[in-house]
Amino acid sequence: MSRVLVTGAEGLLGSRITTLFRNGGRTVVGLGSRELDITDATALDDAIAPRDVVINCAAYTAVDAAETDRDRAFAVNASGAGLVARFCAAKRARLVHLSTGYVFDGTSPTPYETSSSPRPINVYGESKLEGERAVRDELPDALVVRTMWLHAGPTTAFPAALLRRCSQGNPVSVVTDQVSSPTSVDDLVDALVALIAHPDPPLLTHATSTGTATKYDFARLIATTAGLDTAQLRPCLTTDVHTAADRPRTVVLSDSSWTARGLKPLPHWRDAYRRAT
Ligand SMILES: NC(=O)c1ccc[n+]([C@@H]2O[C@H](COP(=O)([O-])OP(=O)(O)OC[C@H]3O[C@@H](n4cnc5c(N)ncnc54)[C@H](OP(=O)(O)O)[C@@H]3O)[C@@H](O)[C@H]2O)c1
Repeated sequence: MSRVLVTGAEGLLGSRITTLFRNGGRTVVGLGSRELDITDATALDDAIAPRDVVINCAAYTAVDAAETDRDRAFAVNASGAGLVARFCAAKRARLVHLSTGYVFDGTSPTPYETSSSPRPINVYGESKLEGERAVRDELPDALVVRTMWLHAGPTTAFPAALLRRCSQGNPVSVVTDQVSSPTSVDDLVDALVALIAHPDPPLLTHATSTGTATKYDFARLIATTAGLDTAQLRPCLTTDVHTAADRPRTVVLSDSSWTARGLKPLPHWRDAYRRAT
């Protein structure tokens, strides 16, 4: 069994991959940003060993900050991703690179296929799309996996912030016009295990929990699961919330590239969230 090297291993996904792979008996090395900066070629050369399976979870994920920090977002998400792929190619390592549905503009009335044309509407999405291209250029057989709205239950960013605001007793506005699939990190890790083990995996794929929700639907489930009154939640529109970066409204990622290879769809987002609480 190959060694697994996880970059960005102190982040939401990287930390769960490291823990769950280790619990599953794999030889895994998880390196956080201080131990391995993916924009540093020398550090990558030292860190990646021949025939590793590298899972690149390192990313600049601050969607709003990226609007005024474009150079840094591109340095990590585009140049850094390309550099990881370059060293994987040199070391004959396999690469699984994480990307996002934010490469799309969110206007499609039907789910996005992997063949759909990307058109990001914010800097984060642009930098991630550039990263996909850089990875593909450096390592044509890298596995690129797009996902959306990751969570590991009530302690992670969106649920935790929502529960904190609810517990303060004030009305909490939540958008009804952003639609996607809240995705369980643990189910995504299982999906990545299946992808890596597949004899003929899709090179570009979408992996999200099954089913779709508005942010408001997701907030209602978070609140009810915590035993809170949902009357505090106030539906609003994205245009009512002033953020630096615009958000694509409807990003539903089709799993047809996934299921076409016999890979199992991820469980439904509602069941996954309840299981994570
Ligand atoms: N979370 C989501 O809802 C979501 C949705 C779609 C796709 N994704 C993708 O999934 C992947 C993992 O996301 P996540 O939610 O786990 O993000 P995260 O929690 O923000 O973790 C990303 C990690 O990358 C690290 N990092 C930043 N710059 C780095 C660099 N130059 N070198 C090495 N590490 C660096 C960060 O460390 P510091 O904190 O020290 O900077 C952080 O620990 C990313 O590719 C992201 O684009 C996430």
